[in-house]
Amino acid sequence: MAKAHLRVHPNEIVAPVSERLFGSFVEHMGRAVYTGIFEPGHPTADADGFRGDVLALVRELGATVIRYPGGNFVSGFRWEDSVGPDRPVRLDVAWHSVETNQVGLHEFAAWADTAGVEIMQAVNLGTRGIAEAAALLEYSNHPAGTALSDERRANGRDEPFGITLWCLGNEMDGPWQIGHKTADEYGRLAAETGRVMKWVDPSIELVAAGSSNADMPTFGSWERTVLEHSAEVIDHISLHAYYEETDGDVASFLASGVGLDRYIAAVATIIDEALDAQGLDKSIGISVDEWNVWYQSRFNDVDKPPLFEGEWNRHPRIIEDEYSVTDAVVVGSLLMSLLRNADRVSMANLAQLVNVIAPIRSEPGGPAWRQTTFHPFSLTAAAAHGTVLRSTVESRLVDTPLYGAVDELDAVAVLNDAELVLLLVNRSVDEALQLDVALDGCAARAVSSAVSVHAPAGGSRFSSNTAQNPHTVVPVALASAALAGDTLALELPPLSWSIVRLSVAAPAETTTIDSEGAAA
Ligand code: AHR
Repeated sequence: MAKAHLRVHPNEIVAPVSERLFGSFVEHMGRAVYTGIFEPGHPTADADGFRGDVLALVRELGATVIRYPGGNFVSGFRWEDSVGPDRPVRLDVAWHSVETNQVGLHEFAAWADTAGVEIMQAVNLGTRGIAEAAALLEYSNHPAGTALSDERRANGRDEPFGITLWCLGNEMDGPWQIGHKTADEYGRLAAETGRVMKWVDPSIELVAAGSSNADMPTFGSWERTVLEHSAEVIDHISLHAYYEETDGDVASFLASGVGLDRYIAAVATIIDEALDAQGLDKSIGISVDEWNVWYQSRFNDVDKPPLFEGEWNRHPRIIEDEYSVTDAVVVGSLLMSLLRNADRVSMANLAQLVNVIAPIRSEPGGPAWRQTTFHPFSLTAAAAHGTVLRSTVESRLVDTPLYGAVDELDAVAVLNDAELVLLLVNRSVDEALQLDVALDGCAARAVSSAVSVHAPAGGSRFSSNTAQNPHTVVPVALASAALAGDTLALELPPLSWSIVRLSVAAPAETTTIDSEGAAA
């Protein structure tokens, strides 16, 4: 069996883990909203039409902040359609669908309150601009006494929504985007819109749209130009990253986290250079506000032509990818990459939440279930709190066509007052990995839990969960995990994502001594 070694450095802190790393995304597209989170008449629906079974899974997933309402959708969206008693039915040109506006800002905000998540609101900088963005912000966050804030109150919400996070448009670098712009056009618009929005409400945080993916021909120059215009006013710049297995290249697919590490590093360098060049004494975080596994090749080859040539339908089934064990391992390792880069990544949103490339699936009038990718996300979101520690890996190298030689073992360590949490991936498709972890100085006491996501008995790396068989792929106990002194030993199954939680001795109490030498 192959062997690997990991050392955790308890005194080398990367950064605290922001709760916002465990975000997700609900777009008005496909069945994310309608028959996803919202389905009046469903046996579990509440009085407002929101599904109880889906809500329970959203809570279990542990999502903290949800980006809304798009995505490509937002670039053609008129927010006024989605508030008040009159809800016009409109064409959604981005997804060739019919939007009824039955769910709008008030309904979504009430759902977000119940789900216990923060809203990250996107404004339309595709077909609209400064005035409409500022109006939406005033409607949402101004207490009272103006036409827009009083309209909100008349529509049933007395208190402001208090939305802090605002995205300045979506993927404006992409030719597929409604109102696609050059970097200069977008940079100017983002800066001027952001300035006015901060005059309306100085407490908000603004996210400028970075590149749609690292392979965009404009990647790099887009960020530089946008930052030239907007660095003074924005707080975060976005990065979107989707991965898929192509042409049977599973080695590269399993190393997607390495690709994301490099993408983040490249954007971080551009931010530093821009701040330096402009003499700005501030920080700009990286908002990875769309990331996931997404089989875009299937979408482009199969779903897209019929979708864009066919009928205009209400909530059609679009990009409802069914995820495998391999996809779950990659999602787990992408989340590990986000944690490893916690010093630069200020927030991140798994795209999306329900039905549309989502960890949660639901059927109209039927069940809701957890996809394979649900498990690494929920287990990480439940445990990875505290600070990320630096760790060093020694393992065999795997050759990958896309990223060169990468370690067979991927690992991240997170420490808090009660636990040391290890996230581990074995990138070998067919060999288990015997791992020992040096925990000197970590005060680890005992293994409190160790579970793994891998191919089920009798299944394969392609196994998935479906409405009929929702529990084919579930986390299973990693019985081999054993702590002896400061060394943890365990066997990682082939192609697996694992989480080990170890209890640690409580940090020594700090005693304050008063001027007379007595403990206070
Ligand atoms: O998440 C699906 C789509 O992917 C979003 O609408 C868009 O922003 C991205 O291209």
